[in-house]
Amino acid sequence: MRMIHTIDDMRHLVGECRQQGKTIGFVPTMGYLHEGHMSLVRRAKAECDFVVMSIFVNPLQFGPAEDYEQYPRNLDRDANLAKNAGVDAIFVPSVNEMYPQKQLVFVEVEEITNNLCGVSRPGHFRGVATVVAKLLNIVQPDKAFFGQKDAQQVRVIQQMVQDLNMPVEIVPCPIVRESDGLAMSSRNVYLSSEERLQALSIQRALLHAEELFKTGERSATVIEQQIRSIIEAEPLAEVDYIKIVDLQNLTDVSTIEDDSLLAVAVRFGGTRLIDNTILYVK
Ligand code: PAJ
Repeated sequence: MRMIHTIDDMRHLVGECRQQGKTIGFVPTMGYLHEGHMSLVRRAKAECDFVVMSIFVNPLQFGPAEDYEQYPRNLDRDANLAKNAGVDAIFVPSVNEMYPQKQLVFVEVEEITNNLCGVSRPGHFRGVATVVAKLLNIVQPDKAFFGQKDAQQVRVIQQMVQDLNMPVEIVPCPIVRESDGLAMSSRNVYLSSEERLQALSIQRALLHAEELFKTGERSATVIEQQIRSIIEAEPLAEVDYIKIVDLQNLTDVSTIEDDSLLAVAVRFGGTRLIDNTILYVK
C-alpha cells in the first residue's frame, strides 16, 4: 500500500492508474478507522480496480467549540488496518497541504442543510462539501463511497455532485453497528462505560419506531414522542434532535406519506452521537 502526503503525488499515482485503464474507488475518512469505514473499503474493492482512502481531519467542518483538537488520531493503526483491508493507497495530507493559504472558495449546499445537523452545527456542511469537492478534484475517482450513518452528509454530497456536474458516482452504504447495536463511530471512544450503556437506548428507540411504523403508525409526532421517552429515560441523555423528515428534501413531515428519514442526535456526557433509519412507504 502506498502512503501519499502531497496532492502532486496523489495526482501522479491516479494518472498512472488511469493509463493502465483501472477504475478508481474513493473512500474519504477522518481516520481512527473502524468496521464502518472498512465496510466502505470492501464495497469499493468489489466495484473498482484501485481503492484510495483519504485520512484527513478537516478543520473546516468543526465549529469553534467542537472537538477538532481532541478528535482521535492514530495513523500507524489506521495505515495497518487499511493495508490489511487491501486499500491500494492512503492519502494523508497535512492541513497546510489542503489549505496552504486562506480558503476563499466554499461549497454551500442550500435548503437541505437547514435542518438536522445543519442547525446544530452551523457551517459544518459547508466544511464537509468544500473538503469533499477538493478531495474529489484531487483523486478524480469513478465512484466515491459514503456511509448512511451520516445520512444528511450523503444527501449533501449527492446534491453537490449533481448541481456542480462532478463526474463521479456517489455510492451510499449501510450503517454498520457494534454487536450490541450502537452505530460505529470514531467518537464512541469518548464514551464512559455508563454513557455507552445508556447510548444503546438510541438503537432501542429506532427499532421501536420501525415497529410502530410497520404496524401502521403514520404520525411523525407520535413516533417522535415515543422515541424521546425511550431515550430520555436514560439520565445522561440530552436530546439534540429527534426528527422525521422527507428523505429527499429533509424537511419536517407531520404525516409520513413518502419515504422518510428518522434521524436522531443525542449527547451522552460531552459526546454527541447521531443515528438514523429510513422509513420506506412502499
Ligand atoms: P468519518 O466520520 O471518518 O466517516 C468517513 C465515512 O465513513 C463516512 O462516509 C461515514 O458516513 C462512514 N461511516 C462512519 N461510521 C459508519 C458506520 N457506522 N457505518 C457505515 N458507515 C460509516 O464523514 C466523515 O469522516 C467526514 O465528514 C468526511 C466525509 C471524510 C469529510 O471530511
